[in-house]
Amino acid sequence: MDYLQIKKSPSLQGKVSISGAKNSALPILAATLLSQNEVTIHNLPDVADVKTLAKLLEHLGVNITWHNPTSLTCHAQNIVHQRAIYDIVRKMRASILVLGPLLSRFGYCEVSLPGGCAIGARPVDLHIKAMEKMGANIQIKGGYIIAEAKGGLKGADILFDKITVTGSENVIMAAALAQGKTHIINAAKEPEVVQLCEILSSSGVRIEGIGGNELIIYGTGGELLNFAPIRVIPDRIEAGTYLCAGAITHSSITLENIENNHLSAITDKLEEIGFGFNKSEHSLTLLPAKTLKPFEIITTEYPGFPTDMQAQFMALATQCEGTSVIEERLFENRFMHVSELQRLGADISLKGNHATIKGVSPLVGADVMATDLRASSALVVASLVSEGTTNIHRIYHLDRGYESLERKLAQLGVNIVRLRS
Ligand code: UD1
Repeated sequence: MDYLQIKKSPSLQGKVSISGAKNSALPILAATLLSQNEVTIHNLPDVADVKTLAKLLEHLGVNITWHNPTSLTCHAQNIVHQRAIYDIVRKMRASILVLGPLLSRFGYCEVSLPGGCAIGARPVDLHIKAMEKMGANIQIKGGYIIAEAKGGLKGADILFDKITVTGSENVIMAAALAQGKTHIINAAKEPEVVQLCEILSSSGVRIEGIGGNELIIYGTGGELLNFAPIRVIPDRIEAGTYLCAGAITHSSITLENIENNHLSAITDKLEEIGFGFNKSEHSLTLLPAKTLKPFEIITTEYPGFPTDMQAQFMALATQCEGTSVIEERLFENRFMHVSELQRLGADISLKGNHATIKGVSPLVGADVMATDLRASSALVVASLVSEGTTNIHRIYHLDRGYESLERKLAQLGVNIVRLRS
């Protein structure tokens, strides 16, 4: 199995180009099931999760032509069946994103339940309840969600008890072809949700409230959509991860191809810690801090601090002068990086969903295990200041979401190699 070997890299420099957002690419790919024309998508991140969803679409009958690793054209005219099989879905929870589009287009689908997940129970009950509210009859049989809406889905009022990103995306896609008006209250408003709404809106679906918590979607009543070419927005979490890498090593690095507006929660927190920024329209240079002040984070929905950045900031907290506290509000079991950071010498104590990190801790390289996508990136960030060598195992987690991680880090001056055990 591949692992990453990283040597202490006291100072980074140079530029890194940020890839397309994985979490935007996935719903966009799923949404192509709603289109009658060929859809070309650019700026896809070259990561395993995108390949997994493309494979799932191909399995359903979508015709996909790859132009290069970050751009493809797909045509969903000849869907051969509506069954999203376990073998593919188990690799990636976000496969649940085909539920809404398949059900609204065909009035029937079978989607394997995604099953357990490294960062907590992560149920899909809210997706299912919303589809039922839109007129679907849903049964769980043999590990599959079997959904049927004879005569098609109908617009409905959907009130989400909890804000859910993929849940909102599923309902938005379901509502796009439904009959009548769907009113979503408490919708997620992450930039990835906004991009999905903007694409659907320019493809023939009237949507009101884009960017807010309340959306009104006027379904086409089954008429398929016409998509213009799409460019996936930049990955704010990849950008934030490189900022943490620069921050922990007191380096000045520049990120290119970013959307500064999407990064506010991350850059605000770094400013609070002591860093500065030079910003231009689509790039950003991190300016080192004199001293690193400790901080507090509470993860919340956008525009709050993203849960997907919590682990990387925890690595950074180990080098801050004082005690930092991180409260995880979205996922109950998203602290699995703690024990691995402790193996490197971090002083972290856990109580419920609060982690208390005492700095400054001298870190020392060790063998550590990646446990989920963002936990793994925290280990990469910490390894940059760990004496000697850190070996990060199970990096298939990183490959799910970070394009060319070792090439990009090496470009910034990190001593990193991918090896095989
Ligand atoms: C998405 C992102 C993920 C990010 C997360 C939160 C994608 C592909 N993934 O995941 O990177 O960490 O948003 O920003 O976009 N919940 C339920 N029932 C449901 C659905 C969700 O109880 O049916 C709960 C979850 O357990 C969690 C909370 O709602 O506690 C938010 O989860 P959700 O926004 O749905 O996360 P994902 O969409 O899976």
